[in-house]
Amino acid sequence: MTEYDRRAGEKLAALRRGQAARVLAIETSCDETAAAVVENGRRVLSSAVHTQIPLHVPYGGVVPEIASRSHVQKIGPVVRHALEQAGLPLAELDAVAVTNGPGLVGALLVGLSYAKGLAYAAGLPFLGVHHIASHIAANYLTDPELEPPFTCLVVSGGHSHIIAVEDYDRYRLIGRTRDDAAGEAFDKVARVLGLPYPGGPNLEQLARSGDPMKYTFHSAFNEGDGFDFSFSGIKTAVVNRLHNARQAGEKIDPADLAASFQRTVVDILTEKAVRAALLEREKTGGKLALAGGVSANKALRGALEKRSAEAGVAFYCPAFEYCTDNAAMVGAAAYGKLREGRTDDFSLNAVPYLSIET
Ligand code: KG4
Ligand code: ZN
Repeated sequence: MTEYDRRAGEKLAALRRGQAARVLAIETSCDETAAAVVENGRRVLSSAVHTQIPLHVPYGGVVPEIASRSHVQKIGPVVRHALEQAGLPLAELDAVAVTNGPGLVGALLVGLSYAKGLAYAAGLPFLGVHHIASHIAANYLTDPELEPPFTCLVVSGGHSHIIAVEDYDRYRLIGRTRDDAAGEAFDKVARVLGLPYPGGPNLEQLARSGDPMKYTFHSAFNEGDGFDFSFSGIKTAVVNRLHNARQAGEKIDPADLAASFQRTVVDILTEKAVRAALLEREKTGGKLALAGGVSANKALRGALEKRSAEAGVAFYCPAFEYCTDNAAMVGAAAYGKLREGRTDDFSLNAVPYLSIET
């Protein structure tokens, strides 16, 4: 047995005896460098996020090479900041958790390597966390009473899923996008409308002054009774509408286009998510949660809240600060594994297309 095994083993034994688990969590899957300290998966002792958005704005999207280099520069200061804010030295923590997929491989490797080094040096148990599981777990930070099983709509820049959350670390896929993720569609339409990166929040802002009923974008696929989504056709319909108007010299208000596109996507997500929550009602008691970067969208939050109430389903969504990428949600998800004594060894790799189903 190595010195590391002995020290990490002692920490795990203390957790089994019921001692509180204070986890240092690290997130570098895309364009945010984040670290947090979370107690028992619910209480945030600190949360530090450094966003790279200004670095990527000139390119209109995330440049993977630039993202990795920025993570290398910022990971040290961000982790130090999180530890200082929590007022805890490394030795008093109980585990180090890190996102190991899905995400940009170079970006993931920065956080993963840093977390391994830190865990090894401090003699702390180490574990990898799925990025989508983290987004889902952001709900545990906001709603202390929320417990699995529940249905969750996960909408981010890379993923759009309806997931049955069967337990803290057990998931079943109900539906998924066949092409673009919802956030990706927001970003692409925003770009066509001439809005800067990141498109989603900028498009939402523009949509506020537009007429959501001005244009209709039909999508036969989404109008079916399945649970999979398709957003690529809607994005193309918006682009075509804009091009046709320009060619015909017709004046088109970009705010109306943004509002109509947003309404279309929100309607599709809401209809399918609430229907899935009703399908699962016997198992879950009728609970629907929202997660992922697009959960910051007020139109989506509002529509889900309204439709859930009408359907008699309890609706949960994370506080705004935990909607887009952060490390507090990683600490929340890590607890789901840690409470079962599940840790990883240092051979754990970054997996860009990691599946959430076990
Ligand atoms: O979860 P996230 O921070 O990163 C990924 O894991 O992908 O999600 C980022 C995505 C981007 O596509 C961004 O445009 C979108 O979430 N997003 C929004 C809003 N805020 C972020 N989309 C629509 N409305 C928003 N307010
Ligand atoms: Zn994310």
